[in-house]
Amino acid sequence: MESNKRPESMERISSPALAKGFISEAVESLRKQIGNGNVILALSGGVDSSVVAALLIKAVGKQLTCIHVNHGLLRKGEPEQVVKVFRDQMDANLIYIDATDRFLGKLEGVSDPEQKRKIIGAEFIRVFEEEARKLEGVRFLAQGTIYPDIIESKGVKAHHNVGGLPEDLGFELCEPIKFLYKDEVRVVGKELGLPDSMVYRQPFPGPGLGVRCTGAITRERLEAVRESDAILREEFADAGLEGKVWQYFTVVPDYRSTGVREGERCWDWPVIIRAVNTRDAMSATVEEIPYPLLKKITDRILSEVKGVNRVLYDLSPKPCATIEWE
Ligand code: XMP
Repeated sequence: MESNKRPESMERISSPALAKGFISEAVESLRKQIGNGNVILALSGGVDSSVVAALLIKAVGKQLTCIHVNHGLLRKGEPEQVVKVFRDQMDANLIYIDATDRFLGKLEGVSDPEQKRKIIGAEFIRVFEEEARKLEGVRFLAQGTIYPDIIESKGVKAHHNVGGLPEDLGFELCEPIKFLYKDEVRVVGKELGLPDSMVYRQPFPGPGLGVRCTGAITRERLEAVRESDAILREEFADAGLEGKVWQYFTVVPDYRSTGVREGERCWDWPVIIRAVNTRDAMSATVEEIPYPLLKKITDRILSEVKGVNRVLYDLSPKPCATIEWE
């Protein structure tokens, strides 16, 4: 069996030169493993799967088919970016599935957080499997497993894992970055020419905005999460906070409060801003967002996001709050 221990002789990839060396070795060994076979990859657009895709495109080009499943819970602009980078710029074989209706249909009326996670995970595997079965002659399944996924089997990611990819299809696994730490994956991604917004992307949970639209998801509230999140990200980027704050996002809970708009009473949702810093996601501190920035974000959310009449800032560290609201 292939070892799951990082070779002791492996130098920490901390510079473009070291990344270049890693890339040429990885490309060579991928070519050796894959030969003239075909490979599939679930490409989320996160840094790990994007780096695996870019390595495979370099190694075997069109023998790779990427499948991007849009579960309808992605952030604003994400599916478009995956298509632009991989299909348009890297000329990859990319199957884009908009499964929004299917996922939201399954999630209708479901308010329990763990149940929501299970549904999203199971449905994701089903959609991916259906697409994989349509392709002929696929022998390899590529995955963006990284070293912390292997060594921290009791860690956050394992605990939150919404499910693995299909095992019963009998694919051979192809895991070219399984000995890399996250910072190394980013250095390699940069060297492969991936855009900064992909390489330095903040962590994003598998169930996506689904855990930030608390309780039973509705399309209207999901849109409020997506739009407010886009405003927050835009303002953080403009203020130079992108890549400096570990994770920041908005939550729209499933309750309303009274407000007043154009002289009329309204009954709308609040948007909660969360911005935290952490090393390992096991504990976290709250970012001290400058007040003028908070005010600007608040004003924009209140004027641009439909159905929202209040903006709150979550000041709770972890513990005792978790980073996500569900
Ligand atoms: P919590 O909320 O437990 O989150 O403090 C810690 C980190 O884990 C992420 N997270 C998830 N990641 N699937 C994932 O892939 C999930 O279901 C999930 N839930 C939370 C969260 O965004 C934070 O970075």
